[in-house]
Amino acid sequence: MEPFALANEFVRLSAPTASDVDDVYAACQDEAIQRWTTVPSPYRREHARDFAGRFVPGGWASGQTLTWAVRPPGDVPAGMPEPRLVGMIGLSLDDAPTSCRSAELGFWMVPAARGRGVLTQAARLVLDYGFDLEGLGLARVEWRAAVGNWASRRVAWKLGFSVEAQVRGLLVHGDERQDGWIGTVLPADPREPNEPWPAELARG
Ligand SMILES: CC(C)(COP(=O)(O)OP(=O)(O)OC[C@H]1O[C@@H](n2cnc3c(N)ncnc32)[C@H](O)[C@@H]1OP(=O)(O)O)[C@@H](O)C(=O)NCCC(=O)NCCS
Repeated sequence: MEPFALANEFVRLSAPTASDVDDVYAACQDEAIQRWTTVPSPYRREHARDFAGRFVPGGWASGQTLTWAVRPPGDVPAGMPEPRLVGMIGLSLDDAPTSCRSAELGFWMVPAARGRGVLTQAARLVLDYGFDLEGLGLARVEWRAAVGNWASRRVAWKLGFSVEAQVRGLLVHGDERQDGWIGTVLPADPREPNEPWPAELARG
């Protein structure tokens, strides 16, 4: 599969390339990205180079892992450079038959761009493409997060994921296992909250 862009009035998504290495490297020094995602720690420049030069193109070529950089909205004329990224989002597909494939949604935003709803808009674009029968025609999208990652859970909630389980030792983080939440959204589900936000749970 060739990488392609997804865009709406709020955000532009296009595959990260070698020109994004410095920004990926800088973003992945962030404490929250290190704490809540599986990026290597410490995160070195070679990790960013490997990500942009091997992981991303390999994922697109196999069609198994589709990764987009989150960028400001606006058309980019052919031959012009992409604007600098503010985040990353991707779908990792499982090996099920095409008629019933599932994918896991993953994402991060650079600290300065958080809290403005940009990631949620990016995820809406990715889910629309993922479920579209002209797109991936997915039967299911899964979200996983370490217990306590309320910002991620809030995004999943806004997107209509049903958080169905808290599972002991679900995730591997460095050389430890972490308890995790799992949520799913199915093609026919409304892409909006399907339950009240758990108000008794304090932010932080
Ligand atoms: C998760 C993450 C991508 C969200 O990015 P973002 O740009 O803040 O996302 P959005 O602005 O679209 O939505 C975030 C929502 O979470 C809310 N939020 C942020 N921190 C929160 C917290 N501690 N508790 C509850 N809600 C929180 C925001 O208020 C916002 O909700 P609102 O729009 O209803 O106000 C970002 O926090 C991040 O990069 N975290 C580190 C990496 C990470 O955790 N990735 C996900 C791994 S599963």
